Amino acid sequence: MTDPRTIRAEVRGRVGWIILDRPDVLNALNDAVRAEVLEAAARYDADPGIGAIVVTGSDRAFAAGADIGDLADVSGAEAIVSGVFDGWEAFAALRKPVIAAVAGYALGGGCELAMMCDIIVAADTARFGQPEITLALIPGMGGTQRLARAVGAYRAADLVLTGRMMDAAEAERAGLVSRVVPAAELLDVASAIADGIAARSLPSVLAAKAALRVALETPLAAGLRFERHAFAALFDTMDQKEGMAAFREKRAPSFENR
Ligand code: COA
Repeated sequence: MTDPRTIRAEVRGRVGWIILDRPDVLNALNDAVRAEVLEAAARYDADPGIGAIVVTGSDRAFAAGADIGDLADVSGAEAIVSGVFDGWEAFAALRKPVIAAVAGYALGGGCELAMMCDIIVAADTARFGQPEITLALIPGMGGTQRLARAVGAYRAADLVLTGRMMDAAEAERAGLVSRVVPAAELLDVASAIADGIAARSLPSVLAAKAALRVALETPLAAGLRFERHAFAALFDTMDQKEGMAAFREKRAPSFENR
């Protein structure tokens, strides 16, 4: 692995943290950020000692979008051949739950990166938007698709076509964020959520994420069939037996992730 230069990757207990760290450009996303985020995320996803992942930025910015300096002179042909943002789909496809802890700006690719996560915890300072239209572009990392699913067609159109930002309160009302917390508490809340998920039985956590993702991608009947099979399969885990035994014996369960 190359030494991370644009992120900090830290394991805290059973949680893998990815901290975007390009303060001079408000954590703008470039190829190096993508490579380093994907490397750390893939490592966490494969590590049996990790149960959840947190992605965060700074107080001022989660990420202010794709790096405009890098993209300014790109041609359409180069964008097609390089696949521009294709690699980010590997982040959206991680099997373990990912929590975005967002303070400050989450714009363009920053908003899109947050939407690839499973839970978005926002500081009351957070501002979300897809400003690409102001640059004569459109979102290219999933913004038109995931935003429409998250907040509905009409608010998504308002955001994508005007480029305006929404504050944390509006984002919560719209259903884009899971929780809004005071900025000073953001990392503690994200940490508590991640630690809590990481303490659950990993097979059930993976199944829950997979089923929740299917809900966004398939008609209801197919999703219900997926859920029923995933639910049934968990009865073959030792942890399910332990979880229900612990409940009946009025004690805390001891999960072994098998
Ligand atoms: N790419 C590259 N650099 C960026 C950036 C981006 N997406 N967003 C911010 N920066 C840089 C600025 O150029 C500035 O650098 P400088 O100090 O060398 O001039 C630095 O980060 C701080 O940004 P600044 O604009 O001075 O801060 P601000 O508080 O006045 O405004 C924003 C913050 C986020 C509103 C503003 O930076 C902005 O609109 N950024 C672009 C957002 C965007 O369009 N994203 C989609 C890109 S496709």
